[in-house]
Amino acid sequence: MQIFNTKNSLQHYLKGIREAYKTIALVPTMGALHEGHLSLIQQAKQSADIAICSIFVNPTQFNDPKDLEKYPRPLENDIALLKLASCDVLFLPSVEEMYPDTGENWHLDLGNLEAVWEGEHRPGHFQGVTQIVYKLFTLTQPDFACFGQKDFQQVMVVQKMIDVKQLPIKLIICPIIRDQHGLALSSRNMRLSSQGKEKALILSKALRYVQQNFKSIPVNELTEIGKNIIQSEEGVTPEYFAICETRTLQQVDELHAGKEYVALVVAWVEGVRLIDNMLLNG
Ligand code: PAJ
Repeated sequence: MQIFNTKNSLQHYLKGIREAYKTIALVPTMGALHEGHLSLIQQAKQSADIAICSIFVNPTQFNDPKDLEKYPRPLENDIALLKLASCDVLFLPSVEEMYPDTGENWHLDLGNLEAVWEGEHRPGHFQGVTQIVYKLFTLTQPDFACFGQKDFQQVMVVQKMIDVKQLPIKLIICPIIRDQHGLALSSRNMRLSSQGKEKALILSKALRYVQQNFKSIPVNELTEIGKNIIQSEEGVTPEYFAICETRTLQQVDELHAGKEYVALVVAWVEGVRLIDNMLLNG
């Protein structure tokens, strides 16, 4: 695996790749890699000739400085995992490399996507995400970009950016990888005690209940039940639980034929913000 720390060195290498008519798939990450990230690398390798993983804890997408500070950075382990996964390239830039002091001012109109759920609860988060992903896209010019369904709204935001900026990149959405008990893998899980991990299982339990009863219980009742299931677990504080139409992410209180729906949840356990979702039909 080749490791590059600068934009110039990466671009120089990729020029050769493109001249050889090889395709490129990019997997942007913030490190602290787990099987979820590695499934994206696997998908990237299947989709293109060269799989690039970037590890960059992007400061502009953290609205809480403490969260940024506490973000795990087990770099040696990440490199070992990427080598085991036969990743071709790791891009590992510094903050100065990605944000040189140019007085850059980024804003992308994300419409309603920024007004709901993660957009509402983490002001500025998606501006930071699109700012860094756009930089990574223009730098690597990938044919494919692999993102996880785990961050459902992020996938929609990135697709919107691809559409608005008319980027010739195919977004590949990869399924959520869970542990054997159902907990969605997340770098933030590292900050949970074993008891916290057990409590956190209530998120996927509530989602699964909602998925299983989607056809039989009216949707507004089901949303309440979902919230109550999460609240019933001591030490777990829901931030939101909603059943939405997948295309608009608008919360629904009745269902329409031909539409697809998703349940979205965010909850706090032991001071850690956990996010999960499940598709309910289609
Ligand atoms: P990060 O949280 O490191 O996630 C990187 C990618 O891995 C994202 O596409 C995320 O959805 C995916 N992922 C995380 N957990 C997963 C799981 N359990 N199963 C499947 N995929 C999973 O998301 C970010 O970083 C950042 O916002 C980033 C896009 C890198 C921009 O800074």
